[in-house]
Amino acid sequence: RLGLKTKFIGQSIHYKESVDSTQKIAHRLAYDDAPEGTVVIAEEQLLGRGRMDRAWHSPKYSGIWMSIILRPNLPIPKAPQLTLLTAVAVVQAIEEITSLSPQIKWPNDILMNGKKVTGILTELQAEADRIISIIIGIGINVNQKREEYPDELKDIATSLSIESGEQINRSVLIRGIFNRLEHLYEIYLENGFYPIKLLWESYAISIGKTITARTLNHTIRGKALGITEDGVLQIEDEEGKIHSVYSADIDLQ
Ligand code: BTN
Repeated sequence: RLGLKTKFIGQSIHYKESVDSTQKIAHRLAYDDAPEGTVVIAEEQLLGRGRMDRAWHSPKYSGIWMSIILRPNLPIPKAPQLTLLTAVAVVQAIEEITSLSPQIKWPNDILMNGKKVTGILTELQAEADRIISIIIGIGINVNQKREEYPDELKDIATSLSIESGEQINRSVLIRGIFNRLEHLYEIYLENGFYPIKLLWESYAISIGKTITARTLNHTIRGKALGITEDGVLQIEDEEGKIHSVYSADIDLQ
């Protein structure tokens, strides 16, 4: 139906009109042995979730709200690499069908003109130190109009349609994401993270700039040097000390 070129991603799609969160449904499917590449897509989420327990605004028909199950045979610390890989796949798919050139803000935000168009949330099911399944949640603001945004989001969020001035065909974009994601995932499984890291860095906004990283316990300010093989952000502070940041909110100033 979508005209897919993929072998597994999107070959099994659970399409729903309205759900609490596609993430929750995908977790259950993964637990029940759903095959790798299974996708849950919903037109609307009533309890869409973002990182750090934030709510994710997921209004009906205007976005892409989906969760994809992958089953890489990898240790848990490699999981952030798949978040970064997914961000590259989404940026490339957007570039393919619009005139936009979105950028990635570490670890997983995709921005246009400094406002968020996409968020990615990866969650794991693991046993001992191995990944059993990884649930990649992707939320893309596609056809929302500016006036549809609640006030608290107007300054921080935007949609592909607002930025490009065009109505975007969501099915075409979804297909592009599946094709790109599977392609990059295969490169990654075969050749490791290095080629993905290079691509990711070519789309990243913060690298080389002075940023502020707010973690749960403290704030680090300095120059973003890049990411390590494991997808960890490295920041050099004014004294030349290098900090490894695993999870944080980043301010680009
Ligand atoms: C973030 O930037 O904080 C991540 C947002 C992730 C949102 C997506 S929408 C599909 C999936 N289901 C959810 O409840 N969340 C993710």
